Amino acid sequence: MLNDLITIVRRLGRLPNIVVLTGAGISAESGIKTFRDQNGLWENHDIEDVATPRGFRKNPALVYRFYNERRKQALSCQPNLAHSALVELEQLLGKGLSLVTQNVDDLHERAGSTTLFHMHGELNKARCLGCQKVFAWTGDLDDTSKCESCGSIMRPHIVWFEEIPFFMPEIERPLKKCDIFVAIGTSGVVYPAAGFYTSAKKTGSYTIEINLQRTSHNFHAFMEGPATQSVPQFVVTLKMAIEQALG
Ligand code: APR
Ligand code: ZN
Repeated sequence: MLNDLITIVRRLGRLPNIVVLTGAGISAESGIKTFRDQNGLWENHDIEDVATPRGFRKNPALVYRFYNERRKQALSCQPNLAHSALVELEQLLGKGLSLVTQNVDDLHERAGSTTLFHMHGELNKARCLGCQKVFAWTGDLDDTSKCESCGSIMRPHIVWFEEIPFFMPEIERPLKKCDIFVAIGTSGVVYPAAGFYTSAKKTGSYTIEINLQRTSHNFHAFMEGPATQSVPQFVVTLKMAIEQALG
């Protein structure tokens, strides 16, 4: 991969624009369970019951409780070396890095990432069912939690299945012009995120997958191994390539 990256940076004659997409695998070593490593159960709940509008209508108390537990669990976990490596990448590239995450935890922020698109929402936010306003929310949420601006009840600010992910225009712009696309710790089964690397590849980007095992043979490069090892290794390799290509 080093030689590919040297060739890319040399051809560009500048720092590359990079889009990074992270999934649950980047938070796994921080102790946050992934979605599909336990045969489709999320913390022993069927995804249908806790991550769909239908599930919320059917049993709001279960859904409130589920995200209250996820919020508490995430707060007790710490960012890991993979999150910190992406902070280093942001310091190297500045606005040239677009970090998109499917994760709803705040480990990227707590590691120090600042430009971040939470396309599936955030545990530490709640949204009003009435006026749709979004509020920071780190405590428990339930049907007594009221919107401070219109008094309606609140829901978790999480994108459930059949709902539209957030920030899609802000994601599609860098995706169209990135030189390198990196997918880290995602099973690549949930769209539209799962299609990002193919759209990046169509516009000529070099695509890299970092995972415990390949999810597709269509990436240009694959770095195997736990994110806490392979993401720092990717950043070191990119820095070497920039050094050699731009001097
Ligand atoms: N290092 C790198 N990759 C890892 C690690 C690790 N330590 N542990 C697990 N992985 C990989 C797994 O191999 C798998 O490919 O992380 C991926 C986790 O896949 P999923 O559990 O499907 O999580 P994700 O891809 O983020 O799910 C996408 O689906 O349920 C919805 O909205 C939810 O955002 C989520 C979306
Ligand atoms: Zn409101």
